Amino acid sequence: MITIIGSGRIGSAIATQIVAEGLDDVMLIDVVEGLPQGEALDIGHFSAVRGSDVKIKGSNDYKDMADSEIVIVSAGFPRKPGMTRMDLLYKNAGIIKQVSKEIAKYAPNSKVLMITNPLDVMTYVALKVTNFSPNRVFGMGGILDSSRFKSILAGMLNIAPSSIQALVIGEHGESMLPLSRYTSICGIPILELLNEEKVKEAIEKTRRIAAEVIALKGATVYAPAQSVVRMIDSILNDKKSVYPVSTYLNGQYGVSGICIGVPVVLGKDGVERIIELKLNDEEKAIFMKGVESIKAAISSLEL
Ligand code: LAC
Repeated sequence: MITIIGSGRIGSAIATQIVAEGLDDVMLIDVVEGLPQGEALDIGHFSAVRGSDVKIKGSNDYKDMADSEIVIVSAGFPRKPGMTRMDLLYKNAGIIKQVSKEIAKYAPNSKVLMITNPLDVMTYVALKVTNFSPNRVFGMGGILDSSRFKSILAGMLNIAPSSIQALVIGEHGESMLPLSRYTSICGIPILELLNEEKVKEAIEKTRRIAAEVIALKGATVYAPAQSVVRMIDSILNDKKSVYPVSTYLNGQYGVSGICIGVPVVLGKDGVERIIELKLNDEEKAIFMKGVESIKAAISSLEL
C-alpha cells in the first residue's frame, strides 16, 4: 500500500495516476474532514471505469498509514504566485515535523517520498525527525526539473521529448543546475544541435517555468504527480532506474549533512546508490550556491 499524506490538488493527482497504472493500493490521508474520503470515492469510480483493480481509501487518521511500503508527503502550503519555494520554509517545517513523527510511529518500515517545498530542506527535516536510514527518505525534484528541461529543448528543436536525455541536479529551487554537458539527443551532445546561447535560454526557462505555471493556473499538478509515480514504479518494481533525487549526502560531491538533488539508483530499498559526477568549476559554483541556501535554511530551524 502507498499512503499519500495531503489530498489537495497534487495528492489527488498522484493517487489518480497510481490508480490509472494499477501500481498499488492507495491510502489518502488529510486533516480536512471529508476531503480524502471524497477524493477516494471519486478516484475509486475512476478506477472502475479504467478497469484498474487497485483499491483506494481516504482517512483523517494517521494510523491508517500502517504497513505502507511508501509514504508520499504532500502536506503543507503550496507556492502562491510570486513566491519562491524557500518562502514556504517556516510555514511548512512545523507541518512536516509533525507528519514525520506520525510516519515514524505508524509506518516505521516505510520509505518516505517528500514533495513539500522547500523540497530539499523538507526532505532533511523528515530524515532527522523519523530517524530512518538515509536510503529510505528522499525527495522528488530533479526528475521534474529534468523533464521540464527536456520539454523546453524538445520545443526548441521540434523533436520528441522522449529522444532527449537531460539532467538537472542541485537544489530544487532558485539554484537548480541543468547540466547541458550531460544532456543529449539520441546520444548526440546538445551543443551539436543548439548553440550555446539557445541552451542558456533553455536553462533559464527551466529555472522559472514552474513559477509561470503557478502564475497561470495556481499550482503545478500533473507533472510533479507523474514524476512521483515514475519514482514509485522504480521502487515497487525494483527497476533500478536512475533519476535525480533529493538525497542525503555524506561526503559525495564534497558535501555532508544536507539533502540535495543528485542522480541515484532507485530500487526496492529506496536510494540504493548515489552516482557522483565530476562537476566543472562553473557547475560546482551553482551546485554549491544551492548547498549554501539549503544549509542556511536547515540551520535556521529547530530540529
Ligand atoms: C514544482 C513544485 C512542485 O516545481 O516545486 O512544480
